[in-house]
This record gives sequence, structure tokens and C-alpha cells, in this order.
Amino acid sequence: MCGIIAYIGDKNCKDIIINGLKRLEYRGYDSAGIAILIPDNESDKDNTRNKIVVLKQAGKIKDLEESMKNLDFDSHIGIGHTRWATHGAPTQINAHPHTDCTGKIAVVHNGIIENYAEIKEELIKKGHKFISETDTEVLPHLLEEYNNGSPLEAMQKLLKKIKGSGAIVALNSDFPDEIIGARLASPLIVGVGRDGNFLASDIPAVLEHTRNFIIINDFETIRIKKDKVEIFDLDGKLIKRDPFKVNWSITSAEKSGYEDFMQKEIFEQPFGIKETMRGRLIDGDLLFEELNMTEDQIRNLNKIQIIACGTSSHAAMLGKQLIERWARIPVEVEVSSEYRYKNPIVEENCLFIAITQSGETIDTLAAIREAKSKGAKIVAITNVVGSTVARESDSVIYTHAGPEIGVCATKTFTAQIIVMYLMALYFGKVTGNLSKDQYEKIVEEIKFIPNKIQLILNDAEKIKKIADHIYKYRTFLFLGRIFGLPVALEGALKLKEISYIHAEGYAGGEMKHGPIALTDTNTTVVGIVPKDFVYEKMLSNIEEVKARHATILAIATEGDTEIQKYSNYTFYVPSSIEELYGILTIIPLQLLSYYIAKNLGRNVDQPRNLAKSVTVE
Ligand code: F6R
Repeated sequence: MCGIIAYIGDKNCKDIIINGLKRLEYRGYDSAGIAILIPDNESDKDNTRNKIVVLKQAGKIKDLEESMKNLDFDSHIGIGHTRWATHGAPTQINAHPHTDCTGKIAVVHNGIIENYAEIKEELIKKGHKFISETDTEVLPHLLEEYNNGSPLEAMQKLLKKIKGSGAIVALNSDFPDEIIGARLASPLIVGVGRDGNFLASDIPAVLEHTRNFIIINDFETIRIKKDKVEIFDLDGKLIKRDPFKVNWSITSAEKSGYEDFMQKEIFEQPFGIKETMRGRLIDGDLLFEELNMTEDQIRNLNKIQIIACGTSSHAAMLGKQLIERWARIPVEVEVSSEYRYKNPIVEENCLFIAITQSGETIDTLAAIREAKSKGAKIVAITNVVGSTVARESDSVIYTHAGPEIGVCATKTFTAQIIVMYLMALYFGKVTGNLSKDQYEKIVEEIKFIPNKIQLILNDAEKIKKIADHIYKYRTFLFLGRIFGLPVALEGALKLKEISYIHAEGYAGGEMKHGPIALTDTNTTVVGIVPKDFVYEKMLSNIEEVKARHATILAIATEGDTEIQKYSNYTFYVPSSIEELYGILTIIPLQLLSYYIAKNLGRNVDQPRNLAKSVTVE
């Protein structure tokens, strides 16, 4: 996720900014840059004018630091940025800061500007020149356009114009005593220091300089000077807010106070989902330009082939159920490691989708190459811009979960599922298989997913208590049917990879064909039993294992009291339409595996024998 730091004060800002950027490295990044204000000796003999110097690099912060070695003058005001690409490849040109036409305004930004394409078009018509592929570059040009002698007012006007998310920080060489910031759904904090003040996307960036912080809220703008911090609402009214004190160590600040990255990432899911929906679901309309397919091409599809590995393959399985149900297009899912070696048949009018959070999984890459060699056109779904899979595919749909640091996939999984929901819905609409009413009902429900997930996360303590009771069991069976089956498989995968307990995911109806022999008093069965059309069937499956003395944990729909006759423990998720229980029921299972692993003293962020990107066969 992009990181921001800005400083104005008595000290030389170069080291403060570079060190701050290093503190933000843990968030993941692919390029970095800095803009500082220095006296413009060439055009100003009296030394009263300033100019902005921008240095940026694709790659590591140490490369940026290296390039700054020749900057042998002091500066007391500057902004810095680590970029994690969302629009445009991770290149030097796309790295932040971005500047306006005059070079007097420099901007760093964390977030996504949904309406950047239309703004860019307007600005080009007015004569603005763009050089990067980013959404961010519209920001300095907008500030230039709105400039009426008050950078703060220009920022307030900008905030009313843009849609999407953003923490924005800007420097203006005509105003060398101030830095302006704004927030729209992406975090921005103020560090209040003794020798100056800071803006940052995250507390660790400035924790070595101050422990006093102010949180900026959505639609607020901020002006910091070396000895003054002023917060304003959108209409320019001053807001009074006192700083609070932070006692965290740097390591716990990196995890925003959570114990581990995995826990943090589980709790970040409502945000990652909103970001992934952003720009794709607007006022009830679905936009999928990234697919690069005409409506006729979609209507003519005979088949969709999805390939993926591990957790991503579970997102693919859920996608299959959804596409087949809403669009009635047959979907085949295969794990990449099998697909690549089976001499696959690539048919005409078949859409080929590769799902991979990292975009680097070697088996998925090999499967793509195999399919391409047989004429397939590839659509990738990935979380990493510019990754190898993204580069080698014909089109890319990015999830915007932000970088995932824990080895175990959590927030990238739910972001993939959201793409699957939106894509299946889009296909359902284009093929005419969904009525207007059905479509609108599903859209309404999808909009509520982040809130419903938040409600589940608010109940995390209940799952923790259940985990405290059952963590010593040595066998776990996860049972689900239809939409619940990929959830059962994913629940089992999460548990085995971070707790090292033997766990299996099964279709409920398959139990009697073998796995039921495993069931005894040492077994916990986790049943995914939301109120859907296979609810009664799942009850029977649970009855079967209960009769064999297994302990039952049911993940059920709120208000379902019947289930308690079958279960020893019950966790409720909010009610929804049956297709959406897939994304809701996985959240308690992520939490369950997390708390069980913690009880067993496991390293949840770096489980044994596993790697975040599997780049070897
Ligand atoms: C599970 C996990 C792995 C990955 C798999 C595919 O928590 O992280 O199973 O899902 O290695 O990785 P990507 O999605 O990067 O291709």
C-alpha cells in the first residue's frame, strides 16, 4: 500500500523523509520518491524564490537515497512517497511525487481516483500536459487549475471534484511555509512535533520524532506549518482537535496495534473489499472495461476456464458457482499445476481466467503460457500491478486489497471473491439471464458486504472463545455444500497452514462415502450451514457426524435457533441472499484458524515451509 510522509520544521527534511519512507517499507512498495523545496538561485538573485526538486526511482529506497547524494543543500520542507502501483506499471515516471505543468506544485497520494479519466480529459482540453499513466497525476493539475492564491482552498475544491479514495499531500513552491493535506477514505495522520510538524499515512513513519498524533477524518483538509496545525472542513471552517499520545513500539505501530499482520489483514477486509468494488460498481451500474470484451463476445462464450492455486483456486470455485448460476455459462476450474501438464484443450469462444494474488506463482504462469500457446486470450485477476502474470496476460482485473504481508492469504481472497461476484453479475446482466429485479436485488446486497463483514469482525471475541475450547482437537473436518464448499476447503486450508492441525474440507454429502470413518470424539466438525437451499441437507450431514460423537461448530445465519439442537458451538453471520454467504462465512473461519494457531503458539505470519509467492515448481 502506498505510504506518505511530509515534514516542515527547523531540521533538514531529507533524512527525516528518507527514514520515514524506510519505516513505511513494511507496507510493501515498488517505487519511491521525494519532493523538497530549495532556494531557486538561478532565477532569483535575492534568494527569496523557491523551486521544487523531485527525485524518484522504481525499486528500493536505497536507490532513491543514492540518487540524492548530490543534493548538497538543506531543505526544511518536503514530501515523500512509497508507491504500490494501482494505475500504471511500477516505473520511474509513474512513481510519486507528480507535478503540475509549471513544476510549482508537487503531490503524493495514497488511494484510487475513480473519476480520473474524465478529469484528465477535461484538463487536457484546457491545455494540461500529462506524462504518466497514473490516476494521481490529475491532482497537481487540478490544484494548478483551482489556484487562486490559496493552496488550501484549491485543495478543498479538489476534494469536492474527485471521487474515490485518497490521502493527498501537496507542496507549492510559492508557499514555502506550508504543506497542505486532505483525506478521502485513506488514512492520513498529523504528527505534532517540537521542531516541526508531519503528515503521514501511518504512525510508524514519524514515531521516532513524536508521540503526539491527530487523525484526519474524511473530507477534511489540513494545513501544517512548522509551528502550527490547522484542520478544516470541506467549507473551510476551522475544526479544533487535540492530539492524542501513542505509546506503541515501532513494531506494534507497523501492525497498527494488532498482534500480527495476519490479524491486521483479516480486520482490513471491509476496506480491501470497498477498494476493489470502487470504480466497478457505480450507482448500481457495473463497469468492466478492463475485461476488454464486447457484450457480443460475452454472449457468445461457450465456456470459461479458470486456473489458480491454493486459496485463489477456492475463489475460482466460488466464481464457478456464481457464473453458472447467474449467467448460465459453463465454467471449468483447474489447479494450475495440473492444467499445465495435461495437454489442455483450448476451445473457441472460451474465456480463460487466471487468479493469483501475487501474480508470480510459477504454476499459474506456466499454465497461462501453455494456454496462450494454444491461442487462448488470458484475463488475469491479481493484486500486484506489473507482476509477471499481469504483464503476460491480455487483460488484467486488479483487486485492491493492498499488499498482503502475512504468508496466509486472507484479504486478497475476499477481494478475489468480490471480483467474482461482480463479474458473474455482469455476465448475468449481459447474457440477459438475470431479470432487472434480480440484478438490482443482488447489487443492493453486494453493497452491504463490507458492513456485514465489519459486524462479523466486531464479534471476533466470540470466535476466540470457541477457539479456546477446541484448539486441542487433532482432526478438523470442514463441511459445506454448493457455495459453502469452497468455504469449507478454504477454512481447512487456513487451519492446516498456520496451526499444523490435520484438517479436511469436504462436500457435506460426500462424508458417507469415506471421511465419516474418521469421525470420533477427537474430531471437530465445522459445518457451513447458512440458510440457503441446501440448509436441510447440511443439517442431515451434521446429524450424521454428531451421531458419531464429533464436536460440532456451526457457522449459521442469525436468527436460526434450530441449528443449536445440532451444534455444540454456533457462530452467526448476518443474513443475506444465499449466494453471498460464501464471503460472509469465510470470515469466522479465518478468525478461527488464527485464534487456534495463536493458542498453539504458532508464527501465523510466517508458517513453516510456506512462502508468500511460490516461484519454484
Ligand atoms: C494460502 C496461500 C496459498 C496461495 C497459493 C497461490 O493461504 O496463500 O495457498 O493461495 O500459493 O498463490 P497466488 O494467489 O499468489 O497465486
